[in-house]
Amino acid sequence: MKDFREMKRRREKITALTAYDYPTARLLDESGIDIILVGDSLGMVVLGYEDTTNVTLAEMLHHTRAAARAVKRAFLVADMPIHTYDTPDQAVVTARELVGAGAQAVKLEGGATHARRIEAIVQAGIPFMAHIGMLPQSVREEGGYKLKGRTQSEVEQLIQDAHAVEKAGAFAVVLEIVAADTARQITEAIGIPTIGIGSGDQCDGQILVTHDLIGLFPWFTPKFVSPAARVADEIRRATTAFIERTRNGGPLSNSDISG
Ligand code: KIV
Repeated sequence: MKDFREMKRRREKITALTAYDYPTARLLDESGIDIILVGDSLGMVVLGYEDTTNVTLAEMLHHTRAAARAVKRAFLVADMPIHTYDTPDQAVVTARELVGAGAQAVKLEGGATHARRIEAIVQAGIPFMAHIGMLPQSVREEGGYKLKGRTQSEVEQLIQDAHAVEKAGAFAVVLEIVAADTARQITEAIGIPTIGIGSGDQCDGQILVTHDLIGLFPWFTPKFVSPAARVADEIRRATTAFIERTRNGGPLSNSDISG
């Protein structure tokens, strides 16, 4: 495991992306990413669910195994799906299953209210990454993916959450859709790195859903993402070329592929 605290101390930015399958995990790993997350965003961008609340542990284990087969040097973290960590004991059982599938660390959503569950995981010898701010597993109760850390009471709560997860033993904390200035304050307040998503550029690192970064889920792109590629367009172009060529009676040639 890289020393992520030391990276924070040296102001070396930490890079993290999601992967749910062998080829994506291998490509990210070979490109030098620090952390690969088998996120439960799997539910939306791979399995076609409306949100992450339908993702099961069996699905997370299946995709964690696939990603783990590919990863040689990045640090592989797996998400604990909703209702698989309702008690400290259940959290440890779930975390062990994910580690058995090849994860090197686990992540769950929640701050101070989840400190005992986090402590139990860490005491079981499993590295833990925290996740505070907007919590996608609570999207239905929240009524949407809303910015966090705008009011003074939210700022205080988030700083308290960040301290609580650090004290419980987390090696890093994801800040999801947190107001940029609040994310900066949290980053300055704690010793473990903050990994931001839609939380400004003052965090110690950044994470994105890879499908958003590469334009592979064109039906929805979060406002804070500027895709760096348009992979969905390439798939459509190659598919159309294949369909046309096949219907015209010939095999696909290199010129069809390269456009
Ligand atoms: O599930 C996921 O991909 C995540 C990231 C958005 C941090 O939790």
